[in-house]
Amino acid sequence: MKNGIVQLTLIGLTILLFGCTTVSQDDLIVSSPILEVVTYNKNIEPIIHNNCIICHSNPPENGAPMPLMNYENVKEAIQNRNLLSRISSEDPALLMPPGGPKLPQNLVELIVKWKEGGLIKE
Ligand code: HEC
Repeated sequence: MKNGIVQLTLIGLTILLFGCTTVSQDDLIVSSPILEVVTYNKNIEPIIHNNCIICHSNPPENGAPMPLMNYENVKEAIQNRNLLSRISSEDPALLMPPGGPKLPQNLVELIVKWKEGGLIKE
């Protein structure tokens, strides 16, 4: 019985300690190492879909200059529109998405790895 109360108190304290924190960038970082080949279909499309196409749609919205709707669009933006430096920039005037929050570092690294691996589609 006594043990039960101690356990309940510990559980309660744990919830108090961890339950009320806000979501930070750290929560979004998946810490599993990237071992496989990075491809557009598997890894990159979901990142762009979740973070960019609200503006980089086709036709683009909110003043964005080009769509990022498919493999060709994203490849072109990596090669000719500094996509990688725009998502890693420390300069708020350059950062994409505009006004942040900056993409979690592991996602930026995934895109870097995709480029280094030769921009494989699938
Ligand atoms: C809220 C709307 C919005 C979102 C979300 C957004 N962008 Fe943009 N993007 C813009 C606007 C507006 C511009 C043009 C002004 C500029 O270059 O800063 C732009 C420009 C760019 C450029 C430069 C294009 C060029 O020709 O110079 C790249 C690359 C880019 N965005 C990539 C991205 C990526 C990748 C994401 C997602 C991680 C993203 N953007 C999310 C609005 C957005």
